[in-house]
Amino acid sequence: MTDAVILVGGLGTRLRPLTLSAPKPMLPTAGVPFLTHLLARIQAAGIRHVVLGTSFRAEVFEEYFGNGTPLGLDIEYVVERSPLGTAGGIRNVADRLRDDLVLVFNGDILSGADLTALLDAHRRCDADVTIQLTKVDDPRAFGCVPTDADGRVTAFLEKDPNPVTDQINAGVYVFRRSVIDSIPTGRPVSVERETFPALLAAGARVMAHVDTGYWRDLGKPADFVAGSADLVRGLAPSPALPGAPGEALVLAGAVVDPGAVVGGGSTIGAGCRVAAGATVEASVLFDGAVIEDGARVSRSVLGFGSRIASGAVVEDAVIGDRAIVGARVELRAGARVWPDVVLPETSIRFSSDL
Ligand code: GDD
Ligand code: MG
Repeated sequence: MTDAVILVGGLGTRLRPLTLSAPKPMLPTAGVPFLTHLLARIQAAGIRHVVLGTSFRAEVFEEYFGNGTPLGLDIEYVVERSPLGTAGGIRNVADRLRDDLVLVFNGDILSGADLTALLDAHRRCDADVTIQLTKVDDPRAFGCVPTDADGRVTAFLEKDPNPVTDQINAGVYVFRRSVIDSIPTGRPVSVERETFPALLAAGARVMAHVDTGYWRDLGKPADFVAGSADLVRGLAPSPALPGAPGEALVLAGAVVDPGAVVGGGSTIGAGCRVAAGATVEASVLFDGAVIEDGARVSRSVLGFGSRIASGAVVEDAVIGDRAIVGARVELRAGARVWPDVVLPETSIRFSSDL
């Protein structure tokens, strides 16, 4: 049976400060660590054996998911002592693989793609590698992947400033086992910048499979927040969503005052408190976050045990664990507050009137 490999060794730099304490795939997203959504989709596709290629904060994954039995999976962990890059991470788990077909996932992708259709396409084409593609408005932050009329990949252009197509690498691949064995060992290797271009230059059969379903990379705060809200509202399908889709997911042990307005796909974590007159829109509150009366929080992530005091405004911001945003402080557009920082009341205001 097909193996699944998930690459989860990245530093999650773009999601700091949240990723100072937890690896990106373990951040709570719609009530569960993000990776749970991907694992549940893999399980639903009939795959059982999953190998996690870990590096940064490797132990956190095994502590939470164990051997995978509660999810109906058989999960193994392989740790890179120093990061080996995306292809190095795939090569590093080779001795755990049991099948000739290997599904490989970037660990930060939220997608509704049909994995069975991808595997079928790979088998039908007798490909060496099949890359799942999706279309995006701005391909510059991704791997741009032009194809010919037969769906064969003609180039792989990672983070190209002048993309030639809107088709990008969706971060899901099917590999023939022998291709994985041919990746060099003992040094970092990038699948995007080295392995794929080398395979194409050598004439390997690299095919594309375009999926038109839901897709989002959760590497940046704005996408993390939007992806979580889409899960809560049922726009991004996940078998792991705890509860029915709706405008808000309020986890057990959270207290939301009837006089608060909570919506837009927000998640209110366990032990959170949202006071009367507060507004929470399309935001993610990790466990124990507190929002006081009259505060407004939009499209933001509030770290574990953080506090937004009375009348504060937090928009498009990331608040670190246990940080305190004082009364009537205004934070907007990309503000990031480091863990344990205390912003005194009215200490930061915002004016567009420069
Ligand atoms: N094991 C391991 N070791 N995993 C790694 C390493 C490593 O050294 N470096 C990165 N990863 C993991 C990350 O944890 C993440 O799950 C995945 O590999 C991709 O890394 P990102 O840092 O998120 O890459 P990206 O988002 O800039 O670009 C990649 O994903 C895009 C789709 O979202 C590329 O694959 C692009 O081509 C692609 O379009
Ligand atoms: Mg990414």
